[in-house]
Amino acid sequence: MNAIVEKNLYPALLNAIAHPLLIISETGQIEYVNSATENFFEMSAPILLRRNINQLVLFGSPLLALIAQVFEKHIAVNEYEIQFEIPRLHVTKIVDIQASLLDKTSTDDDGRLMSLMFIERGVANMIESHILSRNATKSIASMAEILAHEIKNPLSGIRGAAQLLSATANSDDKSLTTLICTETDRICNLIDQMEQFSDGRLPEFTPINVHLLIDHVKQLAQNGFGKHVKFVEHYDPSLPQISGNRDQIIQILLNLIKNACEALKDLPNASIKITTAYKTGLKLKVPNRDKLLSLPFELTIEDNGAGIEANLLPHIYDAFVTNKKGGKGLGLALVAKLVADHSAVIDYVGDKSGAKFRILFPFLTEEKA
Ligand SMILES: Nc1ncnc2c1ncn2[C@@H]1O[C@H](COP(=O)(O)OP(=O)(O)OP(=O)(O)O)[C@@H](O)[C@H]1O
Ligand SMILES: [Mg+2]
Repeated sequence: MNAIVEKNLYPALLNAIAHPLLIISETGQIEYVNSATENFFEMSAPILLRRNINQLVLFGSPLLALIAQVFEKHIAVNEYEIQFEIPRLHVTKIVDIQASLLDKTSTDDDGRLMSLMFIERGVANMIESHILSRNATKSIASMAEILAHEIKNPLSGIRGAAQLLSATANSDDKSLTTLICTETDRICNLIDQMEQFSDGRLPEFTPINVHLLIDHVKQLAQNGFGKHVKFVEHYDPSLPQISGNRDQIIQILLNLIKNACEALKDLPNASIKITTAYKTGLKLKVPNRDKLLSLPFELTIEDNGAGIEANLLPHIYDAFVTNKKGGKGLGLALVAKLVADHSAVIDYVGDKSGAKFRILFPFLTEEKA
């Protein structure tokens, strides 16, 4: 403690805090920012210090009401999971905000200062949703097993009977037997899809070059459901391989890219940007391992559609959540399960200017360690 006072390490101490910290006056003028604030607002300290907090946030932002409350009532306020829009950057961040007066004993109304700290919820939410989606997929897995057993067997009997009937049916009745066959096939397909959630056997994992698989899925898309879409790639070719199951990674990419293409269906400038990059920092506790696993391989898939509807957002990884005619709402639920099986995490970081999914995988070497 003495060293901090004697060597005046306070500025260094404040800059060492990973969360944005600002000091503002009662008029909202910004008086101090630490280094994390510069990254958060993507503005340098000298520029921020010439601004008023009102100029950084949207008119009517909940932050302004919170600041007024703290100055008025002389209390410290913590607000959790606030949607904080930064209009200049066109982004919305989910943050916890801690606000308190610098000198709580002061009754002098002149020159009062307030500290504001923002704690980004991105990573915490990502891990939370990762755990939730693991639980959700487990219940689908057991349901799929029951359905497969209880429904598929009688269905094949029904289909067989319809085929027998069609042999002697007149043309009117034949259309009915055909209807029975196509509908039973549809139900069987649905059950087959749900069976993919069954987590009995773990498939074989091999070293995977993700870039090759992205190109493979891109080609599939361009020759079918994504003919109308322009693909833009930003790969980091120096990234090492990951440990994974080829078919499952293709399935993950396919489900995400198919959703993006469907969202871009009627758009003239439809484009999907696929990026891979090296990311430091995120570590995850995975089942059956003592060590934390680093997840440095970042894959993002971004489209320029309208983004995911706000009311669907909290539930997108749940099964049967869909707003599409004919959609089953199984695509993202399966993605969440397969991502978790790869000890990876997924989160949605899109907004109204487009959907954006980010997946973080461990490297092959890390996974084995
Ligand atoms: N790129 C995207 N842009 C906009 N909305 C999306 C996007 N991806 C997913 N969604 C929304 O999330 C919902 C769930 O997606 P999911 O893939 O799980 O199911 P689905 O596409 O509706 O049906 P299925 O994939 O089973 O055929 C979609 O119905 C859609 O509303
Ligand atoms: Mg889908």
